[in-house]
Amino acid sequence: MPTVELIDPQTLTEADLVGLYESVGWSAYTRDPEKLLASVRGSHRVAVARSGADLVGLARTISDGVTIVYLQDVLVRPEVRRDGLGSRLVRAVLDADPDVRQRVLLTDAEPGQRAFYTALGFTEAHDHDPGLRAFVRMSV
Ligand SMILES: CC(C)(COP(=O)(O)OP(=O)(O)OC[C@H]1O[C@@H](n2cnc3c(N)ncnc32)[C@H](O)[C@@H]1OP(=O)(O)O)[C@@H](O)C(=O)NCCC(=O)NCCS
Repeated sequence: MPTVELIDPQTLTEADLVGLYESVGWSAYTRDPEKLLASVRGSHRVAVARSGADLVGLARTISDGVTIVYLQDVLVRPEVRRDGLGSRLVRAVLDADPDVRQRVLLTDAEPGQRAFYTALGFTEAHDHDPGLRAFVRMSV
């Protein structure tokens, strides 16, 4: 079972990230490796899992460090899924900011994602009590 560790994002390289992001098919990121590296290096927290020298999983957050943590990018290589690694990565980045009140994220409307985040204690905004609305404005 790969070890999960919080790392200094500045230590990551393009080569570290491109293989992992390609393995989950996120071509919007991998077609511009320079931007991919800048985005991950600009994160608040980054947790990674390695197999030897290769990254097999990563989770990262964006945050003011006080009131809100936004969970952005949780990815695990297909060959090591359903063994608890994604959950351990998310816990590692979230547990690093235990006093923050709001933990939020946006993800695809797939049943697997819903099951994954529900198992981690997240509630979809429209199911939240008291009621909440989540809004998004994407660029095309
Ligand atoms: C989502 C993802 C990170 C999950 O990683 P993982 O290591 O397989 O997750 P875990 O093993 O910790 O799963 C924990 C629980 O979440 C639920 N779950 C996870 N993936 C699921 C799926 N595809 N279908 C249904 N439930 C799922 C299950 O309840 C699972 O527990 P179980 O295996 O004991 O049934 C991984 O599938 C992935 O990288 N997907 C592609 C990228 C992505 O969509 N990321 C999320 C949006 S940012």
